Amino acid sequence: MLERLNTTFRDSVLGGLSQHPKTLEPKWFYDAVGSALFDQICLLPEYYPTRTETAILRERADDIAEALGAGVVLYEPGAGSLSKARIVLEALEAPSRFVPTDISSTHLHEAAEDVREAFPDLAIEPIACDFTKHLAIPPSVEDDMPVTLFFPGSTIGNFEPGEAEALLRRFREESGAQHLLIGVDLVKDRNTLVAAYDDAAGVTAAFNLNLLERINRELGGDFVIEKFQHVALFNEEKSRIEMHLESLEDQEASIAGSSIQFTAGERLHTENSYKYSPDRFSTMAARAGWNESLVWTDDKNWFGVFLFTAAA
Ligand code: AVI
Repeated sequence: MLERLNTTFRDSVLGGLSQHPKTLEPKWFYDAVGSALFDQICLLPEYYPTRTETAILRERADDIAEALGAGVVLYEPGAGSLSKARIVLEALEAPSRFVPTDISSTHLHEAAEDVREAFPDLAIEPIACDFTKHLAIPPSVEDDMPVTLFFPGSTIGNFEPGEAEALLRRFREESGAQHLLIGVDLVKDRNTLVAAYDDAAGVTAAFNLNLLERINRELGGDFVIEKFQHVALFNEEKSRIEMHLESLEDQEASIAGSSIQFTAGERLHTENSYKYSPDRFSTMAARAGWNESLVWTDDKNWFGVFLFTAAA
């Protein structure tokens, strides 16, 4: 399993670094170190999405529970710390099971243990899987059970709009879910956006640079981390935050026997984080077979929690 993951990681890294401009897939941020750094990002004063979405979920938990009904199977792809699912689980009437999935198995199982302690009577079935490839549905989830997909954190924003639409369609088809409860970061002023991805304490920079450290650790790479800097910018035309790693000088790095050249100032593109208007997001979801039922936002309209129902 580990060997297979390493081969996939290596192929993805070498493929991305041979493109012009060079890219790395953001899903590789989340090894144990990256997942821990991401948990820190979520607590940063500049990173408004987590606290804003959490406040919306807390405030609207009863409305959400009423809309979803009793006996729900809550399925969370790419689950991370599970703190948001706990808010929903607390409000739901007799949820039948909780299925968190994540690419980082260690992180997932630790987080699931905490939920188990808080909800001793709930069946919890963590599954390590890569939701960008498929959703693994455990056999205990039977066809007639009401499944709600819970996809918070604006993770959907990390996909190109066409991919996001395809992902939402595949989520519906593979899960047979009735509902999709999804958190989406909304368009706002540039300064707020950029600060959220370039925090004063440098945690996001460390998160971005950890990709190179991970390549060094797992693929025997020899990147000199100090020779790269973190860059975050808002691309208004595409309505997305972009993260890059900028080479500070002409240099060469080698990974698994392949050598990669960088020129001074060259940027390696590591992540996009799309910011939607509520209308644009709902229109995209409708194309993927999800009809909007309800949307909750905060006072400043910075973040939206959308509840969709699967089209018949
Ligand atoms: C996981 N994802 C929604 C985060 C985001 O805001 O796009 C990842 C992240 N990258 C830098 N900071 C947070």
